[in-house]
Amino acid sequence: MTEKSSLAAGTLGGASVRTQQSAARGLWSSRWVFFLAATGSAVGLGNIWKFPYITGENGGGAFVLVYLGCILTIGIPLLMAEVLIGRRGRQNPAGAVANLAREAGASLHWRTVGWLGGFTGFLILSFYVVVAGWALAYVPTTLSGSFTGADAAASAALFDALLTDPLRLVLYGSAVLAVTMLIVGLGVRDGLERALRFMMPGLFILLLGLVGYAAVAGDFARAVEFLFVPDFSALSAESMLLALGHAFFTLSLGCGAMMAYGSYLPKGVSIAKTSLLVALADTSVALLAGLAIFPLVFANGLEPGSGPGLIFVTLPIAFGQMPLGQLFGGLFFVMLVLAAVSSTISLSEPGIAWLNERFGISRAKAVLTTGAVLWLLSLASVFSFNHWADYQLFGRTFFDSMDYLTANWLMPLGGLGTVLFTGWVLKEKVVREAVGIVHPGWFRVWWNLLRFGTPVAIGLVFFSLIGVI
Ligand code: TRP
Repeated sequence: MTEKSSLAAGTLGGASVRTQQSAARGLWSSRWVFFLAATGSAVGLGNIWKFPYITGENGGGAFVLVYLGCILTIGIPLLMAEVLIGRRGRQNPAGAVANLAREAGASLHWRTVGWLGGFTGFLILSFYVVVAGWALAYVPTTLSGSFTGADAAASAALFDALLTDPLRLVLYGSAVLAVTMLIVGLGVRDGLERALRFMMPGLFILLLGLVGYAAVAGDFARAVEFLFVPDFSALSAESMLLALGHAFFTLSLGCGAMMAYGSYLPKGVSIAKTSLLVALADTSVALLAGLAIFPLVFANGLEPGSGPGLIFVTLPIAFGQMPLGQLFGGLFFVMLVLAAVSSTISLSEPGIAWLNERFGISRAKAVLTTGAVLWLLSLASVFSFNHWADYQLFGRTFFDSMDYLTANWLMPLGGLGTVLFTGWVLKEKVVREAVGIVHPGWFRVWWNLLRFGTPVAIGLVFFSLIGVI
């Protein structure tokens, strides 16, 4: 953060909080920038790559309904709690939680919630950069016209060719990782603000265009039915669990990412309103992605449940057919990479800020060392698709186990810690003042969801994972 912004830092929180923060911390220059950054974090591969493919694997409508329910009753309340902790604690997630625990006279061990989140973020990054690398690899492939006139089989063959080429995967994945680390090393605020201003609207418009194309060229009616008419017989306990895990993933929860961004949020901005808008933008992008992809899936006789390759096989068929498809396709994958990078930045920020503020390690050094470890971990994800495809950890490849471990265990665990801390450790008065829900009735709804609804829901999920229910 820059010096000029340390002026703004003088306007923050209570005295005990102020003594904990480093003098050089800055703030987002406006509520709009926070909204962009938080939306940039939330909108990413989770919406465009993961949401369609897990929806396809889990039978469509009923899964979407549970996912939307999780966003509304668990995701949004938790999102508000995270931003609130960040803004009042004014530090990296672990530091912010410690500051607030100190203020409330509670144990400093609560900060475990913060650094566990940073750790979870690193595990996610290790496979996230690999998928972002797929998108990056697809920029030249699409621009060069490889998909022109390709049918489903040809498109699938091109995707397989990528997965079985470790060198290409490593190259593109490393490029994404390097760019992320460069931006995080330089300090998140300025570069991000500039990039996001044109990127988020651009991605949105491209997606709308794709939905339009899919409505004309694809089987739109069947896609709408698949996505929005629930067939509850397709819903298993496992898929409900996945829906919850994905609600966490898509809103960037349970890893301290939103705490880290909240810590740069100016006072006076309504946390409640801004969080609602972020969740709305995120959910719309996911649903649009679904509406763009499934019409093409059905029209081309593809299998909705075909797994992580779904968009990489489906969309190129459309780009290969539509007028100017090479160009639009190339642009789409560029936007997808940018959306992914604005997410990877938020995945790294909690850990890097923690190393920097807690141990006094410079951002540059923190980025270089963690970047190196991450790079090695990402190799394991790359090899999951080729050399090491047969090695299994708990019955899954390394790539799948990282996804499973983080989405189903670590993020919900981080979320549970966060809601317990906010709902049961912090004083109601402090929270009420901070969150900015003006209407007393709505505050009660949120407060009760946070204190009772969310912990019970997450608890049920853990029990079902362990096999108790
Ligand atoms: N929300 C992002 C997506 O949907 C991924 C992401 C970014 C994330 N930051 C996070 C997930 C923090 C969990 C925690 O692509």
